Amino acid sequence: MNVLGLSAFFHESACCLLRDGRLVAAAEEERFSRVKHDPRLPAAAFRWCLKQGGIGLLDLDAVAFYESPVAKVSRQLWAGAPADLLDPERPERALREGLGWEGPILTFRHHLSHAASAFFFSGFPEAAVLTVDGVGEWDTTTYGRAEGTAIDLFASVAFPHSLGLLYSTLTSYLGFAVNDGEYKVMGLAPYGEPRYLEEMRRLVMSRPGGQFRLDLRYFDFIRGRRMYSDALADLFGQPPRPRESEITGFHRDVARSLQAVLEEILLEKARWLHERTGLPDLCMAGGVALNCVANGRILREGPFRRLFVQPAAGDSGGCLGAAALAHAQLTGERPGGALPHVYLGPSWREEDIAGLLDAAGLPALDFRHREADLLAAVVDRLAAGKVVGWFHGPLELGPRALGGRSLLADPRDPAMRDRLNRLVKKREAFRPFAPSVLAGHAAGHFALDHPSPFMLETCRVTSTLDLPAVTHVDGSARPQTVDPAVAPRFAALLEAFRRRTGCPLLVNTSFNVRGEPIVASPVDALLCLGATEIDALVLEDFVIDREMLPANWADLVPAWRERSRSGFAQGRSAVSEDLYTFV
Ligand SMILES: [Fe+2]
Repeated sequence: MNVLGLSAFFHESACCLLRDGRLVAAAEEERFSRVKHDPRLPAAAFRWCLKQGGIGLLDLDAVAFYESPVAKVSRQLWAGAPADLLDPERPERALREGLGWEGPILTFRHHLSHAASAFFFSGFPEAAVLTVDGVGEWDTTTYGRAEGTAIDLFASVAFPHSLGLLYSTLTSYLGFAVNDGEYKVMGLAPYGEPRYLEEMRRLVMSRPGGQFRLDLRYFDFIRGRRMYSDALADLFGQPPRPRESEITGFHRDVARSLQAVLEEILLEKARWLHERTGLPDLCMAGGVALNCVANGRILREGPFRRLFVQPAAGDSGGCLGAAALAHAQLTGERPGGALPHVYLGPSWREEDIAGLLDAAGLPALDFRHREADLLAAVVDRLAAGKVVGWFHGPLELGPRALGGRSLLADPRDPAMRDRLNRLVKKREAFRPFAPSVLAGHAAGHFALDHPSPFMLETCRVTSTLDLPAVTHVDGSARPQTVDPAVAPRFAALLEAFRRRTGCPLLVNTSFNVRGEPIVASPVDALLCLGATEIDALVLEDFVIDREMLPANWADLVPAWRERSRSGFAQGRSAVSEDLYTFV
């Protein structure tokens, strides 16, 4: 039974392949197209899933789509969307014409897909389910219970009342891009004080049960051209922050107040969901479930014993849920199983990388069949304060780099955070980096008593080591625990670094520059090396130091940037940075 799951035409599009209920392949289209948050038909990801599965189009039993086009159009109609968008047949037509698929297409509700993407891959026999996002069709939040193949979403909050849209609105007011800058607001929050709680509680009011309401006088996203109304700026007493302008104490305080109110409501609703279901475990998905600070509080202060957040909790991960629901419908069996990792994307063979380096005339140190020497060479560079691009195995699904396409550095170096921000990531200086830590050593450095393989919750840093590069201003971190059974080479690298330095963790940030998707292929990685000041690149068994690059290497970089810009313009035409896109 081969089921192809598909998310598309809204935010990040993606594809996955389930074979007999097991996840064989999954990837976001942006990693192939190099257009960040690419919402178009994921043709490249689709072709890659078939290739990875070793099958052709005719071997598929069904294609599962992650939302109901008809229900979505009814909301668009209500919200006064332009007539040319009101086309419930668009997804099916695109699948037929764009992918040549003539077999059955099963569609599932957006939040049911989110819920299924979390529950079926949680490994929990039964669980409470909470989905929270901007909007999907009409729902913005759903509450449910799940057992076996059944997911019952028994309560929901309807558009326009949305915690995701509240967060996106304040993100826009604070001068960051909608659907992209929300995690920057979360990172900014601990620098501020919650001085605007009263104002924030006027924007969003909790109601009994699972309900909450936005005061729509402060919002303009339904029919307007921006997220917030003038009344919102009046309420806070300051105009919106222009993009890239100075961040002041006011902005930090608003971010902190927003984060505090979001956490307050999520905790309250999690408690209500626990009361309603009486179940000990919770599964979460939807874009708001990527708020790892809120997740940490739900787990620490909430009533649930265990929490599973689907690592691709945003819309790209909806394809997992749709495929799983289709499998359950077609076979009557429960799909999925506990998700051990998200290394579900394409990988490259050593000989192909060797051929590429050869063809490009790039010198590299060759460590094939000498893993211990390779790791020692990487540790040499990390211990010397260098930033290393680490490319190994399959690409990760979801927004986090987890040791497949990562930039690694020494977390003890007090200058590393600024260096990474300024020279490599080219991003805002306030944002913290996350650590990857050997699973067996996590408890010695963090207030964490369970595995956290996907960087989806924050916790307190308790280490006796000084870890300035990965410790946030409030003393927290967002660790990834690395299990040698799941990521053997990455764990071996951490172990080699530990033996050399006594520190079993590394800075791990995604391998990309600001505004670009995470690198996917060796070519992407090489071009990223050219466009940044990364000191060394590890391409599987090959190591390339910056000093080894030929003099004409820099000539390639402008061409790459040009390509990125055109891709950006092309892909973003449908997705505004100022307004949540409802197309
Ligand atoms: Fe969603």
